[in-house]
Amino acid sequence: MRDVSIIGIGQTEVGEHWGKSLRHLAGDAVLAAMRDAGVERADALYVGNMLSGELNGQEHLGALIADFVGLRGIEAVKVEAACGSGAAAVRMGYLAVASGLLDVVIVVGVEKMTDQKGPVTTASLAMAADAEYEVVNGVSFVSLNALLMQRYMHEYGVRHEDFAGFPINAHKNAATNPYAMFRKPISLETFKRARMVAAPINLMDSSPVADGAAAVVLAPSDVARKFQPLSVRIIGSANATDALAVHDRRDPLFLSAAALSAQKAYRQAGIGPNDVDFFELHDAFSITAALSLEAAGFAERGRGVYLAKDGEITLGGRIPICTFGGLKARGHPVGATGVYQVVEAVLQLRHQAGPNQVKNARIGMTQNIGGSGATVITHILAAEG
Ligand code: COA
Repeated sequence: MRDVSIIGIGQTEVGEHWGKSLRHLAGDAVLAAMRDAGVERADALYVGNMLSGELNGQEHLGALIADFVGLRGIEAVKVEAACGSGAAAVRMGYLAVASGLLDVVIVVGVEKMTDQKGPVTTASLAMAADAEYEVVNGVSFVSLNALLMQRYMHEYGVRHEDFAGFPINAHKNAATNPYAMFRKPISLETFKRARMVAAPINLMDSSPVADGAAAVVLAPSDVARKFQPLSVRIIGSANATDALAVHDRRDPLFLSAAALSAQKAYRQAGIGPNDVDFFELHDAFSITAALSLEAAGFAERGRGVYLAKDGEITLGGRIPICTFGGLKARGHPVGATGVYQVVEAVLQLRHQAGPNQVKNARIGMTQNIGGSGATVITHILAAEG
């Protein structure tokens, strides 16, 4: 197997892109990443996307986007793993280059969610849950996570207010990210007064529905420097799964696929949580952020929430998270999110994060979750040179 590096990145602003179609969004990100890498051709294009069929009436994104960006003829497919589709596509690209079969691979994550009315989007997102056993009983994605949050608060004696540090940190970091959806800091008061979505999840606990696209270009590490003096190496890549339905899990409050995926990535990278300088985690809801910190080894069970409460997740804290706003405030165009996380990690490791820079960042971790924890993809990235 060969080492793999990221030689180019591109992203579009996250938001409501009513004036742009799916292919235009993806095209903007791909062409920006190709420009950044200085490449005009690629051997393959992998597209992370969850809902194009349901929300945009369009499948077959591989060929569509390859053609649109001027790469007609290359290998191209869509990769789907619910909200984890973006990182699942990055891993496919990683495997293809690592195997030696392909040299230059482009990965783009794209999602366009705001063209449909809320209930349609909510029903479509619920397809990431178990249709026969969960959705049939009326759960939505928010309500499923609300049950987990309620259980967490009950088991560990945590107050709702204790979660406020997650969205406060996310919004603060998004305020200085030109690609973020919500560039506005929020206060504890804003958190407490936010309208309820599905108790106890309120608007500030929840990521928004959004449009956006992000892309990376991958190449073998031994030639990466020829393209990009600031290349970043993928030193760990792992995908792990759990039961789709929450009720089938041994312990609903432990994201075992997140733990497994992180452990596999740590082992490959030869590091542990203490070596990670920042963590782009999957804060689709405040509760997901707490559970991810615990599963990835940054906090004991029931203590993840206190990392937020005690300010340890801020840019200058022990383990900075959501350094560009995370899913909560940069926004969560579901199938694109995993690629946004990688693009942001690359910016940190190139030391191009501007006011969002984590000082002396050398190793960063990204973790993208599909469904309520059934597919989890972790990447560990390291600055080269
Ligand atoms: N955080 C902060 N503000 C938000 C927000 C969020 N998550 N979502 C919407 N808003 C704001 C909008 O910007 C808008 O503000 P404005 O009135 O100043 O323009 C206002 O709230 C109304 O927006 P709207 O889109 O009509 O809200 P909504 O009630 O239809 O949707 C949610 C809000 C939370 C229900 C929706 O974003 C949602 O379903 N989120 C979860 C998505 C999800 O499950 N993703 C998968 C997770 S893995």
